[in-house]
Amino acid sequence: MRSISRTTQTADRMERYTPVAQALHWLTAVLMLTAVVLAWVFMAMPNAAGSRFALITLHKSIGQTIFFLAVFRQIWRYRHPPPLMNGRFTRWEACAAWWNHWLLYAIMILMPLSGYILATVAARPSPYFWLFYWPQPSHIPVLAHAALRVHLIGQFFVYAFVGLHILGAGWHVLVRRDGTLDRMLPSQDQKPAESASFHPNGSNRCTDSQTVVPHGPAVDR
Ligand code: HEM
Repeated sequence: MRSISRTTQTADRMERYTPVAQALHWLTAVLMLTAVVLAWVFMAMPNAAGSRFALITLHKSIGQTIFFLAVFRQIWRYRHPPPLMNGRFTRWEACAAWWNHWLLYAIMILMPLSGYILATVAARPSPYFWLFYWPQPSHIPVLAHAALRVHLIGQFFVYAFVGLHILGAGWHVLVRRDGTLDRMLPSQDQKPAESASFHPNGSNRCTDSQTVVPHGPAVDR
């Protein structure tokens, strides 16, 4: 049945992400922003500043949460495939979105992992939200310094991927006006979702040819 639910879509209407996928998306977005701002703040503080350790603990706890959310999102995504892209997106838009989404997932895994490894250089491990300590990997200086480099350089990929993602969302809202943002927002429609019809060419892969159809509202899956 999974393949049918994945490939159901009316010609002029788009489906939405599930409410769980939407909630995970917006929670991750808020956590990403908070983690980045915290990093800027504690990096600008003198080492001896009293609240620095608390900010680092919060940054690390949020980063670890982003990691677990990203893993859970992958499981959820597998069991509840995202709404189809075709029929609405041009091929380049579908390709750009596909790459951007996977690069975002990659960075949501890479940044916390490199942070976890680089933290072995810290004299004081920090507890997860002041609750408990994760097992500490043994300190291997070469690995820790490589992880530090990955983490510091990785931040620029975060800015680039998130920036492009938001620009892409803006493009769909302001230029294409195709309701793409609605796919990631709760339905405003009180009426029950229209029954979706089978779409034989349904796919989310950007290699498939895309046909742009007239605009229409999104429907719930
Ligand atoms: C103002 C901020 C943001 C807006 C307006 C936004 C908007 C959207 C929209 C509209 C989609 C659905 C695209 C589609 O229909 O195919 C989406 C998907 C996605 N967004 Fe965002 N987003 C924002 C921030 C973020 C952040 C900070 C991250 C994480 C780093 C993120 C990660 C993702 C991922 C991974 C997907 C793909 C979900 C999937 O298919 O599994 N977004 N976003």
